[in-house]
Amino acid sequence: MIYFDNAATGGFKPDSVISAVTAALNRCANPGRSGHKLSVACLERVYACRKLLSEFFGGYGYERVVFTKNCTEALNIAILGTIKSGDEVVTTVAEHNSVLRPLELLKGRGVTVKYAPLNGEGDIDVCALAGLVTAKTKAVIVTLASNVTGTAPDIAEISRSIPEGCLLICDGAQACGHIKIDMQKSGIDALAVAGHKGMLGIQGSGALIFSERFNPSPITFGGTGSESQNLNMPDFYPDRLESGTLSYPAIISLAEGALYLSEHLEEEAQKTLKMTEYLCKTFSQMHEVALYSRPNPFGVVTIGFKSMQSELAAHALSEMGICVRGGLHCAPLMHKALNSDGLVRISLSAFNTSGECDELLAAIRKLALTL
Ligand code: ALA
Repeated sequence: MIYFDNAATGGFKPDSVISAVTAALNRCANPGRSGHKLSVACLERVYACRKLLSEFFGGYGYERVVFTKNCTEALNIAILGTIKSGDEVVTTVAEHNSVLRPLELLKGRGVTVKYAPLNGEGDIDVCALAGLVTAKTKAVIVTLASNVTGTAPDIAEISRSIPEGCLLICDGAQACGHIKIDMQKSGIDALAVAGHKGMLGIQGSGALIFSERFNPSPITFGGTGSESQNLNMPDFYPDRLESGTLSYPAIISLAEGALYLSEHLEEEAQKTLKMTEYLCKTFSQMHEVALYSRPNPFGVVTIGFKSMQSELAAHALSEMGICVRGGLHCAPLMHKALNSDGLVRISLSAFNTSGECDELLAAIRKLALTL
């Protein structure tokens, strides 16, 4: 089987991640809940993971790293925890439902939401986005890389073009682990991280990393192991946003993935970029398909068959032993902006090979012959 669905979930984990998770499963207490040695050791390890992630992303200190079960939960905390009735936000049509759906809920509560369009190249129109921002805009919410096409806005340019008081919230689902992200240098206030994609961790891992001026209210309530006499959530981070038992093995996997990437990110990004260059060049010469991506380090190459529905094409490839994702990729406004009712997304990781790309191309040529 050839796995080209790494944007949905990373199909390959380094040995170091697998060993660290196995060790964590073998010796795992509830971090921060009990005073015994194993619980304290797990808590200390979780704090070391916070510190590591804050450093990895140029963040704002370990207490401003909150662990979540995925990127969606991180985005929900960032959005629902900060945007209130009467606020205005600017986002883009390239966003995933993990941004669009919480915003739709907020629209019902009197929040104004404006959507920046794509430009003629299919990229987020950064000028149009800046033009939508007013002195009233509380936050700009933007993806660092589209999960549909792999297009990525210049985030530092967005940060420079919005007013000082406007918060910048970034969806890092498809970008984290593929490119170097420095939150402080790029002016990012909140970064939502998926652990199980480019970060090479396991499903159930994720994080929200945020600045000193970004102070979300909790959206879930429960035990934190701290201030147990207090019937309200503690007023300090990270406890304020982390109720219920943390997934210790998932956190360990995310930190171990970051450690691996500290050494390998550049090399992996180059390898992924080269494979996307190869695929894009080949697809651009095939009459039977339309290409929606340009070479990128996120590993996303998306095509449309001119006379076959995306789900049918994805199914046919699956029958030939190749995993890709068809349909709308939970990003309906992006597809609408691209005039698409579904596309075939091939998403690579650095663990794929050019030989696998050739097998995919052969399968697509074979499929095209049936049209
Ligand atoms: N958001 C993930 C994707 O793009 C699941 O496939």
